[in-house]
Amino acid sequence: MMNQVAILDILPDHVDGVRDFMIFGHFLEHFHRQVYGGVYDPGSRLSDENGFRRDVIEALRKIKTPVIRWPGGCFVSAYPWKKGVGNRLPYYDKAWRVEEPNTFGTDEFVGFCREVGAEPFICTNAGTGSPEDMSDWVEYCNLEIGEWAARRSANGHDKPFGVRYWSIGNENYGGWEMGAKTADEWARLVLESAKMMKRVDHTIELAIASIPDLDWNAKALREAGDLLDWISIHGYWSRASNEGVFEKGYDNLIARAFEPEKRIVTVKHILGSLGYLDKLRIAFDEWNLRGWCHPNFMSFGAADHALMDANDINSNYNMADAVFTACFLNSCLRHCDVVGMANFSPVVNTVGAIFTHAEGIVLRPAYHVFDLFANHTYEEILHSALASPSFEVESDDGTSTSVRHLDAIATRDSATGRVGITLVNLHGADAIACRIRGLDASKFIQATMRTVNGAAVDAYNDVDQPDAVSISERRLTVDDPGDFTIKCPAHSVTVLNLNAG
Ligand code: AHR
Repeated sequence: MMNQVAILDILPDHVDGVRDFMIFGHFLEHFHRQVYGGVYDPGSRLSDENGFRRDVIEALRKIKTPVIRWPGGCFVSAYPWKKGVGNRLPYYDKAWRVEEPNTFGTDEFVGFCREVGAEPFICTNAGTGSPEDMSDWVEYCNLEIGEWAARRSANGHDKPFGVRYWSIGNENYGGWEMGAKTADEWARLVLESAKMMKRVDHTIELAIASIPDLDWNAKALREAGDLLDWISIHGYWSRASNEGVFEKGYDNLIARAFEPEKRIVTVKHILGSLGYLDKLRIAFDEWNLRGWCHPNFMSFGAADHALMDANDINSNYNMADAVFTACFLNSCLRHCDVVGMANFSPVVNTVGAIFTHAEGIVLRPAYHVFDLFANHTYEEILHSALASPSFEVESDDGTSTSVRHLDAIATRDSATGRVGITLVNLHGADAIACRIRGLDASKFIQATMRTVNGAAVDAYNDVDQPDAVSISERRLTVDDPGDFTIKCPAHSVTVLNLNAG
C-alpha cells in the first residue's frame, strides 16, 4: 500500500552540527562467545597468527569501526587487569560464573583494535578496583617510564599503546554490579581515580559510568566534573524471557525506536543543569534493541548458562533490529551537539551485528545498517524539518503508542558537497513516499539509493541464507533535485546519496 506521504524540507545553508564518527563504535565483553570463539580463536583456520579472526577484522574494517570498548560490562567490575598481562593463569570470573581463560588481555585487545583500525576504549574496574589500579593501567598503556611501562616492554611492546579513551567503571549505580556504589561513594571514587589517571597522562579522555538521573550525576560532576570528558549511558529495550525466548512482534519492538532519544535528551538536560553542557559529551557506550540473554542474573547456574546459547540463534535478529538500529543512529545524528560516541553491544555474537561460526561469519541485519551509515552518510547535519504521518501500536497492556512512519536526517560532505539522506520506514506493512525539497536544483547530477530490507519483518540472515536481509542499490534519475519524491518500502532503511556535479 502506498498512500502515505512524508515531506522533508532541507535548509542546506543551515548546518545543525557536525557528527562525531565515534557514534559508529562497538563493545566487546568477556561474555559467552564474544571474545573466545568470537573475535579471538587461535585454533581456527580463519584466524591470523595472533589468533584474531580475519573475517571479523575484515567485516569491521568494512564498516570503518572507529572505536571498541572493552573488557566489560559487568565482567570488568571484578577484572584483575594485572593478571591479564605477562604470565597468565585462568581464573574464576565472578560476573558470569565461568572460568576465564585469560589468554586475551590488554595486549591482545589493543592488538585487535590496531588490526581493525579502531581506537581502543578501556573501561576500568571501579567495582573491586582502586584508583591506583586504574592509574597503573594508564601507566601500562601510555607511559615510557616506570614499572608498568617496563612490564609492557618486557611483554614485547616497547612503544606505548597510546590509549586515548578510558572510562571509570561500568553501571556502578546498579545493585547487580559487583562493588556497586552509593552516589556519595561514587563521587569520591571518581574524583580520586580521575585525578590519578590524568596525572599519569593528562591527554586521555575520561568517561564515567552514569544513568539519566540527576542525583547520581550531581555529586560526581560537582566533585570531579572538571576532570572528565564523557558521561557514559547504556540502554537495551527488549529482554529475552527467563526461558531464553526472544521477544517477537515487530510493531511492539519498533514502538520503542525513539526511547533512546529520550535518554539522550534527559542526560543533555542534566548536563545543562549542572553547567557541563559544552564540556562533557555523551558516550552511549552500550546499546542494542535486544538485551543479552542471561536469565536469573543474580543466581544463575548451569541451566541458565545453557540458555545463553539462545543469544546465538540468528533468527532472533530481523528487520526490527535493522530499523531500530537506524533510528538509534538517526537520534545520535540529531543530537550530534552532545552525543560523541556510541558502542553497539556487542561487536560479535550474543546480540551483536556479526555472528561467528567455524566456517565463517553471518552478517545480521544491523550490520548492514552500520554499512550504510558509516559508508554513505556525511559529517555535516543539515537543518531540516520532517512532516511524517504516524501509526498507532497497541501494547498487550492496553496502552497505545504513536509511532512516526518515517524518520529522516540529511547529511552533507563539506569537502565534496555530496548529500546523504537517511530514510527509515518504521511501518511493518505500508510503504511511504517522501517528498524532499530544498536542495540546490542546479548542483546534483546523480542519485543512488541503497536500501536494507528483507522480504518480511521477520526476515533474518543465517549460515544457509546469508543474504535474506541485504543492501540493494539503485541508480536514480532525479529530474528536479529541488523537489522530488522517493519511495521507501515497508520496514526498510535507505540512504539516498546525491552527488554534486
Ligand atoms: O547484559 C549485558 C550486560 O548488560 C553488560 O555486561 C552490562 O554492562 C549491562 O548491564
